Amino acid sequence: MSNIGNYLMKIRQEQQISIRQLAKLTGISHSEINKIENGERENPSPLHIKSIAKVFGISQIECLKIAGYIDEDAQYPLPDFLSNFSPEELEQVQAYANFLRSSNKEEQKETQDTMKNNLKVASLFAGIGGICYGFKQAGAEVVWANEIDKDACKTYRHNFGNDYLIEGDIKEVNPEDIPDIDILNGGFPCQAFSVAGYRKGFDDERGNLFFEITRILEVKRPRAILLENVKNLEGHDHGNTFKVIKEQLELLGYHVHHKVLNTMEYGNVPQHRERIYIVGFLSKQAYDKFIYPDKIPLTKTIHDIVDVTDRKPLGLYYTNSKYYPELKETMINKNTVYQWRRVYCRENKSNVCPTLTANMGTGGHNVPLIIDDYDIRKLTPEECVGFQGFPPEFSFPDDISNASKYKQAGNSVSVPVIKRIAEAMVKALAD
Ligand SMILES: C[S@@+](CC[C@H](N)C(=O)[O-])C[C@H]1O[C@@H](n2cnc3c(N)ncnc32)[C@H](O)[C@@H]1O
Repeated sequence: MSNIGNYLMKIRQEQQISIRQLAKLTGISHSEINKIENGERENPSPLHIKSIAKVFGISQIECLKIAGYIDEDAQYPLPDFLSNFSPEELEQVQAYANFLRSSNKEEQKETQDTMKNNLKVASLFAGIGGICYGFKQAGAEVVWANEIDKDACKTYRHNFGNDYLIEGDIKEVNPEDIPDIDILNGGFPCQAFSVAGYRKGFDDERGNLFFEITRILEVKRPRAILLENVKNLEGHDHGNTFKVIKEQLELLGYHVHHKVLNTMEYGNVPQHRERIYIVGFLSKQAYDKFIYPDKIPLTKTIHDIVDVTDRKPLGLYYTNSKYYPELKETMINKNTVYQWRRVYCRENKSNVCPTLTANMGTGGHNVPLIIDDYDIRKLTPEECVGFQGFPPEFSFPDDISNASKYKQAGNSVSVPVIKRIAEAMVKALAD
């Protein structure tokens, strides 16, 4: 048996942190911490160890070694130790082992080298720049973007400057006016493809926007593309919609991968958000080299994004709502985000934020709710972009409404997932 419990207890006491405080900071229950410390929990979850180490500011890897999770030389979990895990836990530990492997020095260097690239990117349906942030973080340069929504353009310019965003309908853009690019991306409007969007597919005008992408691809011929959409795209209209999309891209010479990734599994951001990511390359070699990122452990909790001790403006609280008694009765867990769905309030069982949607700010459906130290309230728009993994330097401009901000956050993408896909694309494109 390892002495990790003892070790962590000693550090907690040295740092004068109470179990109660530690529970609050990590989202791990009081009783679980007790069990870890007194050795009753023989095999504490590596994710718990990682969260505790993070709070203490000590080496997570060292803690995992002490716990017996990692073989010092080989740097992977010991096989006999793995036999103590449930299949679900096993998946998490294996993901952590992959994560450790990828954080070995040589691979880190390789990633850094490939990150120093000069790849030029254009962004269609750019929104507030979630995809642009991901590519920038992967070392690429965004040189052109287009977006029709006036307020989204304001937010985009507020964060990325005035240089290259074209405000207006993509249908009116002449592809010849777009500079030469290596990668074209587009989180094209998804309403027409989602079940929630009434399953209209290509009959819906918005569905036709996909063909705006192919119109630009025909002329610009970027080396790679990344398209993002709702998970249901693949199943829409019995697979016909997706079949058409794939065929069209292949007709243009692109070799196409696709995969559904959940933000909470691939982005270390506590939001359940399943999206399809279509990645295509002109070169078959790059296509063969491309590998989607691996799952990584979710170490962040809602408390990394929401400060429950911070009192927010009165308008966000439900104290005087006619639904208050019902909410009060249903909402009992301080470590999760609930979703208000007209007649009932859904608890998100996995202690993560449910999928944020464009209509979450308008009342009725999908409003994300939490319990803070004062009462029940709606998430702020800033917290919503936090649940999309936006970087801390991002902010909304002052002169747009809250309704616009919620819509922008819900329409956006999870930046860390894009960053990881973009890094994999950069690697695949490297000679
Ligand atoms: C799902 S959002 C994409 C979010 C974005 N990819 C990001 O990284 O945050 C779709 C965007 O397409 C924009 N859009 C819809 N129709 C458009 C059109 N005809 N021309 C240009 N942009 C359009 C919407 O305003 C919306 O911001």
